[in-house]
Amino acid sequence: MSIKKKSFGKTPGGKKVDLYTLTNDNGLQTEIMTYGGIVRTLLTPDRDGELADIVLGYDTLDEYIKNNSPYFGALIGRCGNRIAKGKFTLEGVQYTLATNNGPNHLHGGIKGFNKVVWNAQPVEQDDGPALKLTYLSKDGEEGYPGNLNCTVIYSLTNNNELKVSYEAKTDKTTIVNLTHHSYFNLGSFCSGDILNHQLMLNANRFTSVDEELMPTGEIKPVKGTPMDFTKPTAIGSRIKQVKGGYDHNFVLNSSDGSLALAASVYEQDSGRFMEIFTTEPGIQFYTGNFLDGSIKGKDAVYNKHNGFCLETQHFPDAPNKPAFPSIVLKPGDKYTHITVHKFSAK
Ligand code: GLA
Repeated sequence: MSIKKKSFGKTPGGKKVDLYTLTNDNGLQTEIMTYGGIVRTLLTPDRDGELADIVLGYDTLDEYIKNNSPYFGALIGRCGNRIAKGKFTLEGVQYTLATNNGPNHLHGGIKGFNKVVWNAQPVEQDDGPALKLTYLSKDGEEGYPGNLNCTVIYSLTNNNELKVSYEAKTDKTTIVNLTHHSYFNLGSFCSGDILNHQLMLNANRFTSVDEELMPTGEIKPVKGTPMDFTKPTAIGSRIKQVKGGYDHNFVLNSSDGSLALAASVYEQDSGRFMEIFTTEPGIQFYTGNFLDGSIKGKDAVYNKHNGFCLETQHFPDAPNKPAFPSIVLKPGDKYTHITVHKFSAK
């Protein structure tokens, strides 16, 4: 196993950015940038042992910054997904967050955790290389209360897993909902659309949304609808029945906070298989609906549905939906979240 570091340029504000390359004992490899905690590449073997890069992204830091990246590979915070009108009330105080998705707040706001430079420290663990990223989000950042100390550890285990472990602590009652936003294509980043990938979601229910993709508060059964992925099903088989494509939060069947199977995806040409385990109660399944061919990166043109995201999380707009699991974090308590992406081939 190895961990290598190289300089990867500077932000327009003059902050230095590094790129770390983690390689495990079996040759799986990932490159992670300190800018946005972005997974730039992820190399996993197909059924013949051939490595391919299975995440969408760009070659250079400049492209991530200038092209206003659609969150390719990034860490998302303080709150992933949408908060209606960017408003919520905590302990009797109303807070107003930055709005960046029509009238709503999305993925942490205008300058979310995907656009900040994280401090990094390589960690050599017995079970594979890891990179520890830390970031202090100051009281008031993007409108959020409290100084929030965040730690995210990416581990590339010798068991062929990319494990993402999150922790956060605050000095004032606040809200937190961290996630990771890789766009996967198990064929490779340049192998076209993902409509033939077979998806299984361990979710009997999903949170219904309005035209702005904001939850209505209703939790509906997937049974008898195009949202039913309880058995492995081609992503494209019913996608035309879903306006705009899939961009929905699924309510995971296991929600007791233990690490449980949330999803699996199989790509038959390469044989690549990915399983996702998480401690979170929800997962956003997004089919790259807003990719429209206007973005190029790593020598590929990213068209609609060329990648899919499975963002493990608490439910969107949780602060305004009292029936949804809470995302409130109080001083003295610790936010924790673990998600494991396990790679194999068959
Ligand atoms: C998430 C959202 C989508 C979209 C993408 C980024 O998956 O749910 O609506 O914003 O991120 O383009």
